[in-house]
Amino acid sequence: MGSQSCSSNINAAVTTQLLLTLFRIGGVVHFGVAGNANPGLNLGDVTIPFQWSHSALWSWQRYGKGPKDELPLESSGDFTRAIGYLKFSDYTVSHLRPTFDNLLNNVWYQPEEIFPVDGTPEVRQHAFWLNVDPHYFEVSKKLVNFKLQRCINSTACLPTTPKVAIVERGTSGSIYLDNEAYRNFLAHKFRVSPVDMESASVALVCFQQMAPFIAVRALSDLAGGDSKVPAEVETFASKLSAYNAAKVVVELVREI
Ligand SMILES: *[C@@H]1O[C@H](CO)[C@@H](O)[C@H](O)[C@H]1NC(C)=O
Repeated sequence: MGSQSCSSNINAAVTTQLLLTLFRIGGVVHFGVAGNANPGLNLGDVTIPFQWSHSALWSWQRYGKGPKDELPLESSGDFTRAIGYLKFSDYTVSHLRPTFDNLLNNVWYQPEEIFPVDGTPEVRQHAFWLNVDPHYFEVSKKLVNFKLQRCINSTACLPTTPKVAIVERGTSGSIYLDNEAYRNFLAHKFRVSPVDMESASVALVCFQQMAPFIAVRALSDLAGGDSKVPAEVETFASKLSAYNAAKVVVELVREI
């Protein structure tokens, strides 16, 4: 199964759940385009991550509190300080940084509450990083030399020949990321390559329904800009990336 949803974690999750409920589905191969957070990859590369997380479920900490202070509802197991946080004042544009404080304080990343079908009813579990199906992932490694298209016509070509990249992690959020500082934060904190708006939702639903899952995401933009990428390339990168992602998916499904 491939699924294309309209830029939202909720739509992607609902669609996945509906398809898994209504049809007998052996596995889910999700695909699309994504922003790139990994400086080691190039525009147009098609990534296949081993793990996905939803990184937009936050506990936003009250001003004046810090890493040593318990979060609201932490003692009842709702929230945790285990995954880490973003401190807004680290991003103040000033030579006086870090003596400047910021009223937005900190946001702490939270795992999802999940209820897998093989769990105890009404007893929640938590998940942040979800592995893709290990068999699908092994099969995807056969595609590292798969030939991808570099040009969309006789004149419009990517600066480098795109490749299939087997990567450690990707992350999703209901956030269209066009901000270099946050992109770099995500890359350093979570070692992610693709950043998108759906894959983790599909992963979370599949995990709870015990359906094998993998996602293929082509890097169609740099999630916050890069002066090295000519503006005219950005105009066709998305279309070419989507085409290459689909080609990889067809090959991956054939191999599976
Ligand atoms: C090639 O594609 C680019 C980007 O979509 C477009 O601007 C250009 O006109 C196309 N050139 C030809 C020869 O079709």
